[in-house]
Amino acid sequence: MMRKGIPVYLFTNVAPTPFVAFGVKHLKAVCGVVITASHNPKQDNGYKNFFFQVYWDNGAQIVSPHDKKISQSILESLEMDDASWDISGVLTHSLRKDPTAEVEAAYFDELSKYVQYKQQNSSCDLKMVYTAMHGVGWNAVQSCLLTFGFPPCIPVKEQMLPDPEFPTVTFPNPEEGKSAMNLAIKTADENNVSFIMANDPDADRLCIAEKNDSSGEWKIFNGNEMAALLGWWCWHCHQFKGSYKPADSCYMVASTVSSKILLSMAELEGFNFAETLTGFKWIANKTIDLENAGKTVLFGFEEAIGFMVGSLTYDKDGVSALGVLYELAAYLNRQGKQLHQQLATIYEKYGHHLNNNSYFICHDKEKIKHIFTRIRTMSGAPDTYPEELGGVKVKYVRDLTTGYDNEQPDNKAILPVSSSSQMITFTFVNKAIVTLRTSGTEPKIKYYSEIRGTGSKLSKEELSSSLNALVEAVINELLEPKKNQLLPKSE
Ligand SMILES: *[C@@H]1O[C@H](CO)[C@@H](O)[C@H](O)[C@H]1NC(C)=O
Ligand SMILES: *[C@@H]1O[C@H](CO)[C@@H](O)[C@H](O)[C@H]1NC(C)=O
Ligand SMILES: *[C@@H]1O[C@H](CO)[C@@H](O)[C@H](O)[C@H]1NC(C)=O
Ligand SMILES: *[C@@H]1O[C@H](CO)[C@@H](O)[C@H](O)[C@H]1NC(C)=O
Repeated sequence: MMRKGIPVYLFTNVAPTPFVAFGVKHLKAVCGVVITASHNPKQDNGYKNFFFQVYWDNGAQIVSPHDKKISQSILESLEMDDASWDISGVLTHSLRKDPTAEVEAAYFDELSKYVQYKQQNSSCDLKMVYTAMHGVGWNAVQSCLLTFGFPPCIPVKEQMLPDPEFPTVTFPNPEEGKSAMNLAIKTADENNVSFIMANDPDADRLCIAEKNDSSGEWKIFNGNEMAALLGWWCWHCHQFKGSYKPADSCYMVASTVSSKILLSMAELEGFNFAETLTGFKWIANKTIDLENAGKTVLFGFEEAIGFMVGSLTYDKDGVSALGVLYELAAYLNRQGKQLHQQLATIYEKYGHHLNNNSYFICHDKEKIKHIFTRIRTMSGAPDTYPEELGGVKVKYVRDLTTGYDNEQPDNKAILPVSSSSQMITFTFVNKAIVTLRTSGTEPKIKYYSEIRGTGSKLSKEELSSSLNALVEAVINELLEPKKNQLLPKSE
């Protein structure tokens, strides 16, 4: 770039991914690039599954048509200038600037607007153990704690600093649950601390764990549960904000395979809910479109522990989400309550939301195609999807591969359609939803399901068994794992 006379902001040290998302906006750059292995195992570092995450000038990851145009440009410029391989002198080039100080100052200044209770900081006696999972979060999180007025946390020392070898974890992905959190739990137990916060290595995602004060058992929260807590808290805080906007101009956003808990809150509280395709670029896309239309977006999330609190960044951000969620935990702690209790309160008020998500592995692309074609043509003709599964009637079918959606008057789906990946969603008469989709980057058929107990008299156990029966029927009748030799997820 600099060879072509274009100034470049290049961080001298590793930085959290959200700093780039924020930095592009703040510095008015034309685009931004993050190179990260994210949460993938160390074997993948540097040659497989490492991403060039690209941001457009609005600070959101690129969507169409920019993605296609960039691919096109890459194909047109495969021959690189020999001189471009010479990177000596890059750091001292006159067109190169280090954005670190300016971006950090602006980021934490902006983040201070999300602080609700700083004046009470001295009374925060909820201690927290933090792990950066061998990634880049440590410095940013300390600044975040200062911004919110929290006392210093206790770091998991072995995982505090960036280390591409990930020496203490096989899968540096807090989503993997216990295995990734072992050292953090050990550290917390040794220090008599009952609250853990973890970023993934590039600090754009967040995971939390809590030790139940009565039972002494650790609970690792999943993305949908964390979103229930954060969504509730964002709404709660919004009502006390000087910048309060009426409910009907406020939105929360989630990807279509995430829990609909925010929809249930929206229905009761009077704000709006918007659903997007999977991938945070779509949540950002929706957020920017809504803001351009004069709306306020309070919170967005995807179940894969990605959270966007307000619109500090148009991307998932594990640093700001950490500060905001810690405030909720501290607020509850002052009342002698824990997060799991608040979660139960939320589900009591807005209805239980139970999920059953997993996947099968299938390396045969033709077989995957065959499975999905069969689902679309149950009685031979196109668009003849199953009418009932496991004895429960299907109310709507939305197929984002073909664009069919019988919930819409003209049978045309509203969300963007992509014929290059498979994605079918069934909505059942008992308020259960099941989505089957293929993964763009992995040889998987994933399923996501949820049953919403909103307005229902059924107990949590009854809802759970209805959902699991439905999931079993979807697996056996539609995926036919035995016949199709699909490999189950290994435990
Ligand atoms: C909150 O923390 C800041 C910085 O540590 C400190 O200056 C301030 O006095 C604290 N406020 C209260 C009410 O304790
Ligand atoms: C551990 O924490 C609990 C609750 O915060 C407290 O009651 C107890 O005294 C602490 N124990 C030690 C050894 O510090
Ligand atoms: C979001 O995506 C839609 C559909 O692809 C497009 O029309 C719109 O311009 C996008 N908005 C932004 C902010 O990129
Ligand atoms: C999901 O449903 C399947 C099929 O009924 C069941 O075997 C599994 O235990 C369920 N998983 C959860 C987490 O409930």
